[in-house]
Amino acid sequence: TEQLHKEPRPLSLASDGPFGRFDRAQLQRGFQVYSEVCSACHSLKYVAFYDLAQLGYTPAEIKKIASDWKTEVPTVNPDTGEASTRKALASDHFPSPFANETAARAANNNALPPDLSLITKAREGGAPYVHSLITGYAAQTPDLVRKYPEVKTPTGLHYNPYFANLNIAMPPPLTSDGQVEYKDGTKPTVDQMAKDVSAFLVWTAEPKLENRHRAGLAAIVFLLFGTVFAYFAYRTIWAEAK
Ligand code: HEM
Repeated sequence: TEQLHKEPRPLSLASDGPFGRFDRAQLQRGFQVYSEVCSACHSLKYVAFYDLAQLGYTPAEIKKIASDWKTEVPTVNPDTGEASTRKALASDHFPSPFANETAARAANNNALPPDLSLITKAREGGAPYVHSLITGYAAQTPDLVRKYPEVKTPTGLHYNPYFANLNIAMPPPLTSDGQVEYKDGTKPTVDQMAKDVSAFLVWTAEPKLENRHRAGLAAIVFLLFGTVFAYFAYRTIWAEAK
């Protein structure tokens, strides 16, 4: 069955490479896909609503996004000490839509939807893996099942050759073009939405990526200058010695 597992298809993003910078419009579209689709099952526990300021949202917009969020955040009633929930604040992190692991598994054929904050770092293949996974659901042909009976998709799972186990509990989350409506005129094809949410998940996993790229470039330029300087210093110092 090893030969059935597929490597992610190449994906190129603005944030790639040493000069890479985030494409903020794309990150906003990706956030829209996350909030309208993925957040039905996945939390972003390391990302706060106020972090959206980095994508260009204003404080007023962020406040509204938080208070409109479909899942309230857990809290404790200060008077009774009982568990309760309240509307999210800008300072809250993106909550799990499930009250606890038992509830999450009960809703997902006993699988646990992982927190997506660090998923592009946690999974080999990074953003291209997420893009391929989301768009990589496939039908199982009778031929394939005859050849590899142990791969036959059990009820409640979905065949996806990009997933290490081949059968995944997550139903295809993006199934039709136009599933979200983009405000910037970008066509919301399934592939585009998958790319945008993958780009967004690169940002959630490393919001300081641009600082790292800048620091790296500055270090290289500094070291190059130092190398040239050292070379001419050497030439000057040894100029008299033959
Ligand atoms: C797993 C992404 C929407 C349920 C995953 C994984 C990723 C992911 C990257 C990890 C796969 C791995 O372990 O390598 C996304 C994205 C979504 C989305 C980007 C939106 C476009 C959803 C929705 C549901 C869901 C709407 C629930 C209906 C799950 C479950 C798992 C999972 C149950 C665990 C699968 C298993 O271990 O078999 N998702 N997801 N996801 N997702 Fe999603």
